[in-house]
Amino acid sequence: MQRILVADDDAAIRGVLRDLLEDEGFQVSEADNGVGVLSALSSSNGSRPDLVLMDVRMPDKSGLDVLREAGTGIGSAPNKQLPVVIMTAFGTSNVAIEAIQLGAYDYITKPFDLDHVLLTIQRFFERQELNDQVIELSTRLGDRDPNEVLIGNSGPMQEVYKTIGRVARSDATVLISGETGTGKELVASILHNSSSYSRGPLIKVNCAALPETLLESELFGHEKGAFTGALNQRKGRFEMANKGTIFLDEVGEMTLSTQKKLLRVLQEKEFERVGGSVSVKIDTRIISATNKILPDEIEQNRFREDLYYRLNVISIYLPPLRDRRDDVPLLTEHFLQKHRFTASSGPARISQGAMQMLMEYDWPGNVRQLENQIERATVLSQGSVITEEHLSFTGADSRRVIDIGQRVRKGTTLQDLLGDIERQALSEALGQTDGDRLAAASLLGMKVGEFQQRLADYGL
Ligand SMILES: Nc1ncnc2c1ncn2[C@@H]1O[C@H](COP(=O)(O)OP(=O)(O)OP(=O)(O)O)[C@@H](O)[C@H]1O
Ligand SMILES: [Mg+2]
Repeated sequence: MQRILVADDDAAIRGVLRDLLEDEGFQVSEADNGVGVLSALSSSNGSRPDLVLMDVRMPDKSGLDVLREAGTGIGSAPNKQLPVVIMTAFGTSNVAIEAIQLGAYDYITKPFDLDHVLLTIQRFFERQELNDQVIELSTRLGDRDPNEVLIGNSGPMQEVYKTIGRVARSDATVLISGETGTGKELVASILHNSSSYSRGPLIKVNCAALPETLLESELFGHEKGAFTGALNQRKGRFEMANKGTIFLDEVGEMTLSTQKKLLRVLQEKEFERVGGSVSVKIDTRIISATNKILPDEIEQNRFREDLYYRLNVISIYLPPLRDRRDDVPLLTEHFLQKHRFTASSGPARISQGAMQMLMEYDWPGNVRQLENQIERATVLSQGSVITEEHLSFTGADSRRVIDIGQRVRKGTTLQDLLGDIERQALSEALGQTDGDRLAAASLLGMKVGEFQQRLADYGL
């Protein structure tokens, strides 16, 4: 019979899990602290659990401390995978990435769904049987910048965290894709800082910002006299990134000729400066990012397929914010904390109506746009309560739509839906006319008296 140790300082949670697991035929033991888990894991007799379900927060040692110590314990090789599933209530990436990096098999977030717990456990034992889970993981983690954290608890983001944790120390080439503002650059920094190249520099190159010839000289450097204006030899970004990471942003914008040169660098780990013949060898981790769908670009003969496979050894896809609306409240809270009105004021608060507006918006600019909205609204509300009036989605942002499908599912009545559309139309018209009621009314084909009445109805 397989043995599972449930470690949590909350007896109620232990009880629920014990009932669940015993029903499934597991032999269950309990621990209410980290020391208990460590001694169970190091015991050599038949009482060693096959799997530990462990809370991150425990009174004596945190779950992460336990992983750290268990991973480096005497007699056990570092970097090994531990038969541990971490349970966490945090909505950020740090715990998740660190737990996986420290060797945890998986993690689940609280409050959990019992089916999901069982599924995770089942997968663990299936993998055990296949014995194919040899993943090299790190026991060392540099100090993390608290600003350098991915927020979000949604399923897709959890997958992202797991991938980051797994590739962190493998130094494999990673391609990050996703729409604008989804956090590609942020992920690149996190990857760099948790890699074995983290002592070296992280050098960023925006491939879209420069014309072809300048980009090549930027990437590879040039020799004196290579072209008009090349008065001295200059080192390129690849040389600067030696023993560090080069981040090729918007890699989908490179011309085919630059792509060819880049391919050679990836294959041979060496290149020549523009106008030169000496080969320069490099030892650099390569991370690239794109908001294009590269397979489509390949189809259109705008991107080399061979280069794509070289760049895309590991791929991380960041989903657009509208596909993970559940993350909006957590992100909002994070940005309210970050963008306080004054250094000494507390974070602004947000009204229910405003939060609903944030939840329903489509976010074409993704997390960056949300951050900008929150920063702006904090200023407009003077750090007090942010209401609908402090949010604006105009100009490029005006693609705000009500997700009718979602609202209908939630049981919103037609009258309420129409009301929301009307309210949005009124405030949009006011925004577009800089608050001129007469102009706004005529924009919507309404009499000004009627318009005023509606504004009052909606408290605008
Ligand atoms: N999950 C997240 N949690 C917290 N902050 C985030 C998250 N995703 C993005 N951000 C923040 O949003 C802003 C935009 O992110 P970033 O620059 O990484 O996006 P990007 O994908 O590189 O966009 P672009 O394609 O336009 O360059 C940054 O300030 C970043 O810190
Ligand atoms: Mg970017």
